[in-house]
Amino acid sequence: MHPIIRQDIRQIIKDIKKEARLMEGKTLLISGGAGFLGSYIVATISLLNTSLFKSPCRVIVVDNYITGKRKRDLESLDDKNIEFITHDITKPIIIDKTIDYIIHAAGLASPVYYRKFPLETIEAAIFGAKNLLELARKKKVKSFLFFSSSEIYGDPDPNFIPTPETYRGNVSPIGSRACYDESKRLGETISITYFDKYKVPVKIVRPFNVYGPGMRPDDYRVIPTFLMRALERKPLPVHDEGNQTRTFCYISDATTAFLKVLLSHKSGEVYNVGSDDDEINMMSLAQIVADVSPKKVEIKRIPYPENYPKDEPRRRRPDLSKIKNILNYRTRVSLRTGLARTLRWFASQLEKQ
Ligand SMILES: NC(=O)c1ccc[n+]([C@@H]2O[C@H](COP(=O)([O-])OP(=O)(O)OC[C@H]3O[C@@H](n4cnc5c(N)ncnc54)[C@H](O)[C@@H]3O)[C@@H](O)[C@H]2O)c1
Repeated sequence: MHPIIRQDIRQIIKDIKKEARLMEGKTLLISGGAGFLGSYIVATISLLNTSLFKSPCRVIVVDNYITGKRKRDLESLDDKNIEFITHDITKPIIIDKTIDYIIHAAGLASPVYYRKFPLETIEAAIFGAKNLLELARKKKVKSFLFFSSSEIYGDPDPNFIPTPETYRGNVSPIGSRACYDESKRLGETISITYFDKYKVPVKIVRPFNVYGPGMRPDDYRVIPTFLMRALERKPLPVHDEGNQTRTFCYISDATTAFLKVLLSHKSGEVYNVGSDDDEINMMSLAQIVADVSPKKVEIKRIPYPENYPKDEPRRRRPDLSKIKNILNYRTRVSLRTGLARTLRWFASQLEKQ
């Protein structure tokens, strides 16, 4: 495992030590476990197995590798408690073992990929959730976590920024982002219906722009794009005026939050996950990437590319009061530190090639 990822995971373990004990000797099934966020969760459990648990937590990773990578840094974990099953979660899944926890993280998160695979995106969120909720019902799991998205808020009314969980969203059902936004919304509805009707102990997270080591260099989201261009000494492409703003959450902070929510006691709840530290526009983000880059790089304004979905939200900033107050969540990694760490990781991947 890369030393930066190992350090991240040690920090996650420090922050969830108490809650993590619940997973000792249990079995977790995670869909999309070969993806960016899923891999960090899997690696965290693997390190918990060797550093804290007397009886290991077994993990079943289910992925069809539509965007996940087979040969990931994290897959070389060499933990016999982790099993990889190649399966499309839009099809029902039969597992004859006990399952205690289920995480549905399979999905297509990058706008370029969900535009390329719109039906797969819809089906992964909706049929994937339905199939796993059925499995959760049969197995009587202790907790079920659905990965929704901050995109369910669409382009929020400025009066609702920072955006709390109670904001209902401003989303077009037929817009170019609808395959992602609307299917995540329905995925939430299916999840909460299984909670209401069958008492499946469902929790929902809405992540806001998570980044870090482990992202695909060709993911096309803004941070991997800027960092790869910086390493290749190419100009950083800022769409349009670069006025759109976001907050970005480093992967170790986000993983801590995901596990806290999974292991929380109250079901039927939804939590924003992200960072509320720096809301930053894309021009300033490019400037920080240029600053942390060891080589001199230029910033270049360009029109939106053809394949980029329209109606980009102008602002995105979470209200994190709920997760902070109820689950004692705190962010630790500043944007500058997180970018520098991610850049070092991307550089090491390029060197390997
Ligand atoms: N990364 C973020 O900032 C972010 C923000 C909001 C929501 N999310 C959500 O979190 C989840 C994980 O995101 P990520 O950034 O790790 O994305 P990712 O693309 O890196 O990983 C998703 C994984 O799901 C797998 N997958 C997709 N469809 C599948 C299917 N039908 N069956 C089995 N596996 C399938 C992919 O192969 C991939 O390995 C997604 O549901 C995404 O929508 C992520």
